[in-house]
Amino acid sequence: MSDDDLATVPEPPALLEVRGVTRGFYGVRALNGVDLVVKAGQITGLIGPNGAGKTTLFNCISGLVPPNSGRILFNGEDITGWRPDRVTRRGLVRTFQIARGCPRLTVRENLLLYGADQPGEGVVAALLRTQAMRLREQDLQQRAIEIANRLRLTRELDNKAAGLSGGQKKLLEIGRALMAKPKLVLLDEPIAGVNPSLAREIGDRLRAIVADGISLLLIEHQMDMIARLCDHVIVMAEGRHLTEGTFAAVSADAAVQEAYMGRPRWTS
Ligand SMILES: Nc1ncnc2c1ncn2[C@@H]1O[C@H](COP(=O)(O)OP(=O)(O)OP(=O)(O)O)[C@@H](O)[C@H]1O
Ligand SMILES: [Mg+2]
Repeated sequence: MSDDDLATVPEPPALLEVRGVTRGFYGVRALNGVDLVVKAGQITGLIGPNGAGKTTLFNCISGLVPPNSGRILFNGEDITGWRPDRVTRRGLVRTFQIARGCPRLTVRENLLLYGADQPGEGVVAALLRTQAMRLREQDLQQRAIEIANRLRLTRELDNKAAGLSGGQKKLLEIGRALMAKPKLVLLDEPIAGVNPSLAREIGDRLRAIVADGISLLLIEHQMDMIARLCDHVIVMAEGRHLTEGTFAAVSADAAVQEAYMGRPRWTS
């Protein structure tokens, strides 16, 4: 190995690759040929003005809405057009801009509901409960407790999700994603509508999740959060990748400023 090799810092590997993805709704192009790469082991920010196509891109990646054209590769595997449950089983999970938990269930039940490959489903399965299934259930219960702990929701485990604060509901949404043992979590505005001190706490929890080896792709309009948390930032505008780089670089970019011009959603 030469000195040159030693001096080279290895690039994190690509975890997610989006190539030329398009998606239209009733003749309107929401995605116009998106190309981007998300690297493993870091928090990547995905920003852009309202209507830029960020949520639609999450919908295409996670299998909720198939792209009209283009390819999506996760961990080197082509997952284009896969159903959401199949994508989830590969370790790619998303959260929603509006939290989707079941308000009448407890925090624990909400977490268990979203554990990967639910055991004990169906009548036959219930009658034939095997030792393996019982062990798996125990494992899920344990994981729900660990995740609640990690997200500081332990005291809420047996309370109904409906009674949680806005910030706690956001944390539960993140917890449900973690139950699937993800490699990559797509977070759609995880601190929207949350007060600043709770938002900072959610940010700290996200950092801890990345330290555990999970990568994050984060849509957020609160730019102080993007600045503080993201290792790398990708900017979308009008259904396309506009630019990318450090937060300092993209926020100083004239093309980014122009894309946001007259748009209300750049907040700090
Ligand atoms: N299911 C749908 N039916 C019709 N149009 C849609 C649908 N989903 C998205 N769109 C349109 O696609 C465009 C991109 O919307 P999208 O929600 O992806 O933007 P966004 O970047 O997430 O915006 P925001 O920051 O406001 O959440 C918008 O013009 C939107 O109206
Ligand atoms: Mg959106």
